[in-house]
Amino acid sequence: MNDSMEHKDVISTNPFAVTLLKWFEEYGRSLPWRETTDPYAIWLSEIILQQTRVQQGWEYWERFMHRFPHVEDLAAATQDEVLRLWQGLGYYSRARHLHEAAKQVVALGHFPCTMSELKAMKGVGDYTAAAIGSIAFGLPVAVVDGNVYRVLSRYFGISTPINTTEGQKEFVDLAQSLLPTSAPSAYNQAIMDFGAIQCTPTSPRCLICPLADSCEALRSGKTAELPVKLRKLKIKKRHFSYIYLRCQGMTAFHKRSAGDIWQGLWEPLLIENADLPVFSAPLSLIKKGVKHVLTHRVLTADFYLVELNQRPSLPEDYIWIPEDELDQYALPRLIEILLASLPA
Ligand code: ADE
Repeated sequence: MNDSMEHKDVISTNPFAVTLLKWFEEYGRSLPWRETTDPYAIWLSEIILQQTRVQQGWEYWERFMHRFPHVEDLAAATQDEVLRLWQGLGYYSRARHLHEAAKQVVALGHFPCTMSELKAMKGVGDYTAAAIGSIAFGLPVAVVDGNVYRVLSRYFGISTPINTTEGQKEFVDLAQSLLPTSAPSAYNQAIMDFGAIQCTPTSPRCLICPLADSCEALRSGKTAELPVKLRKLKIKKRHFSYIYLRCQGMTAFHKRSAGDIWQGLWEPLLIENADLPVFSAPLSLIKKGVKHVLTHRVLTADFYLVELNQRPSLPEDYIWIPEDELDQYALPRLIEILLASLPA
């Protein structure tokens, strides 16, 4: 139990907050970034947890803290090293922004500690600024993330879609009105843990819920319908053909550039929306139709191998890399999967 879990001093007439804080004291998760007041360590945890579950993020947080104990260490690293350490977590723009923000902090000369300074950091939006502001600096700002939408929409029976301007304003205002200003850190972490452990997306544990007596969704049988989200974005499909060129222990890769998925990560020769090129040796199909799901895209990939004695000419951004050094490059998960299927 650390200080942020202390609720006894909270003077609140708000039974929702009091119940949550009491629940948190008993069931809140013990996490390494809850044992520190270092804003750098807390910021790092929040960036990792933006799109990653606690269980998976934990190891990465420890890895980053070990390699870069202070923000100056992260700022001084190369982008390649940061991406490499991030490999496997996905949403790589987080890693690029993390690195840029570390440089911003060093240039600023102190860790940002107001909401406007926090929001000026690369990769820090309203949610992350509220999380860091409240947890590291005790600022009285309520967080609103997927957990908060779920808990509030169910408890108060609110069916306004959460991905509309109107819905967002309604939930932000409600969340802020519920925040006990004497315990912003504990309250924000309590509602996030409550959403992650107790009021889960599917099969919430209503039978053992301390808020069950006054939960509107439970009363009206609507837990499964809340929160409401409008389906807006069409999922785009893309087909990638990758050709792994093998030439005397070397292979050709290039670094993906800006304006598309996987910026800054490395991949073999990619053919999209064009015929496969012809080489002096035949292409052998290693894997076909590998499905890979990203947030707004579904990719399918075919993977070919071609073994050559002479290097063919390639688009100019491709470089030749010793095959046994590929593990030093940051690769998308899909490419790791494809590499695993290559014959030696
Ligand atoms: N998810 C994102 N930030 C979190 C935090 N501080 N505690 C628990 N879950 C989280």
